[in-house]
Amino acid sequence: MPVGEILISEKEIQRRVEVLGREIGDAIPPGDLHVITTLKGALFFAVDLIRALGREVTLGFITASSYGSSTESSGEVQLHQEDIGEFAGCHLLVVDDIIDTGRTLLAVTEALRTHNPVSIRTAVLIAKPARREAAIDADYVGFTIDDIFIIGYGLDYDEKYRPLPDIRAFSP
Ligand code: PRP
Repeated sequence: MPVGEILISEKEIQRRVEVLGREIGDAIPPGDLHVITTLKGALFFAVDLIRALGREVTLGFITASSYGSSTESSGEVQLHQEDIGEFAGCHLLVVDDIIDTGRTLLAVTEALRTHNPVSIRTAVLIAKPARREAAIDADYVGFTIDDIFIIGYGLDYDEKYRPLPDIRAFSP
C-alpha cells in the first residue's frame, strides 16, 4: 500500500458518515426510499452511509466513469444503467464519493430523473468546489476540501488504492 499524507482519518470518516447518514435518513419524508450508488468510487462510502440511514431502503447501482489513467477528467461521462432498479414513485438518494467538476453527478441525476422518482437527493463524501464546472451542488456533503488529488475509501488512482480506510493526498 502506498503512503501519502492522511488528510481525513478513518475515525473522522466513520464519525462523519454516521452523522450524515442519520441526518439524511431523518430528512427524507416517509415513503419508499431507493438508494443508487455510483460505482465504483462510492462503494465504501455507500455501505457505511446506507447502514446509518436507519430506515428501510431498496438498492440500485449505476456505473459512471470519466477518468482514464490520469488525475484529470476526460470530460465525457459514460453511464451503465443496467442495475439501477425500479424507483418510480420512490424517494431517490444518489450516493457518490466525490463531486469535482460536477459532470458525473449532473449526468447521473439527469439520467435517473427520467424514471420519475418522487424526489431526488444527492450525497457525496467529498466536495471540491474549486473545480466545479457543471451547475450542480450535492445536497449532502461529508467534507469540503481544496483542489488536492486524493485516494482511499473508494477513491482511486489508476484503479488502485480504493480499499484504503482513510483519505490521503496523492501525487503520482
Ligand atoms: C469519479 C468519482 C465521481 C466523479 C467525480 O469517478 O467517483 O463519480 O469522478 O468527478 P466529476 O465531478 O468531475 O465528474 P470516476 O469517473 O473516476 O470513476 P470511478 O467511480 O470508477 O472511480
